[in-house]
Amino acid sequence: MSLISSLSHLEAKAYSTTWRSPSNIAFVKYWGKKGHQIPANPSLSMTLKECFTETKVDFKPADALGVDLFLEGKREDRFALKIKNYLETLTTELPWLNKLALNIETKNTFPHGAGIASSASGLSALALCLTDYIQSFSNENDQDLFFKRASFLSRLASGSACRSVYGGFTTWGEADLAEASDKYATPISVHPELAHLKDTVLVINDAEKSVSSRDGHTRMKEHAFAEARFAQAKHNFKGMVNAMKSGDMEEVGMILEQEALSLHAMFLTSPNAFTLFKPNSIAAMELIWDFRRETKLPLYFTFDAGPNLHLIYPDVFKNKIKTFISHELAPLAVKVIDDERGEGPVKC
Ligand code: DP6
Repeated sequence: MSLISSLSHLEAKAYSTTWRSPSNIAFVKYWGKKGHQIPANPSLSMTLKECFTETKVDFKPADALGVDLFLEGKREDRFALKIKNYLETLTTELPWLNKLALNIETKNTFPHGAGIASSASGLSALALCLTDYIQSFSNENDQDLFFKRASFLSRLASGSACRSVYGGFTTWGEADLAEASDKYATPISVHPELAHLKDTVLVINDAEKSVSSRDGHTRMKEHAFAEARFAQAKHNFKGMVNAMKSGDMEEVGMILEQEALSLHAMFLTSPNAFTLFKPNSIAAMELIWDFRRETKLPLYFTFDAGPNLHLIYPDVFKNKIKTFISHELAPLAVKVIDDERGEGPVKC
């Protein structure tokens, strides 16, 4: 079912809206697609609090679809073209987009290359602005449908963005859960002891990634271990949901690290092998494993498709863990960003 097929009758009109949308960190990774933005396996993520994008969109009637985009006040034509291409893919169902010029002003609270997905926050913020336009001219006032549609539209722009539309913990992809869907994300409730997890991001290297996520997903099509990886992710997804619901932080942490290491193992074993690890990424992992063995404190790591570690731990242990991070891990990093579970997007 498409969540936008009933909207072809809307018209191009002037409208302006601003949304803030956070980034998210995947605990179970989406890596590999079937068809158009359909994930090969379900994923689960935590929505962040401090790391978000704020995007203002001015819609104006025009002769043709047009996009001007300003990032931190600076004109970005390459980014504008990507957004235009994305909007063009929607015009079959939303033909009125062909008669709109969009002026987009966007800014992030976190630096580029910090290992925090700006595509997740940026593209969900854009999709929320578009959903807001739709809602204001379609006489619909259904909040559940609003966020489901925003998640659906986010997914078509970037898969991981669809999970940022909700606060807390979110799943995306067909699975043995009541609301699970490949088309949009769904929030899930977790055990109260795991409701307040911290995410301290250890920025090991802030240079541009050598391989984009889009390219990485494509490489999974030829990957010798693709089917085994998708089976592992499906198994880990079930395990992660159960552990999050029962409050088993040790199990959450074990799956979290296995997911990150499997993702990076896919890079190392892909047809055109590559690695995104830096020497200090590995040094940090080893220090975390030593720290856990010695203290039994629940500090775990995950990686996105990059060299930077996301350090995940329950809020109640933050004093001891933060002391370790600042003494032992921070010297390996160019920057440390403190974040935690957030409440999801807001309209400004
Ligand atoms: C490693 O969502 O960036 O962060 O759908 O092609 O835009 P596209 O890919 P993207 O991939 C994210 C990959 C990941 C894992 C995850 O967030 O689940």
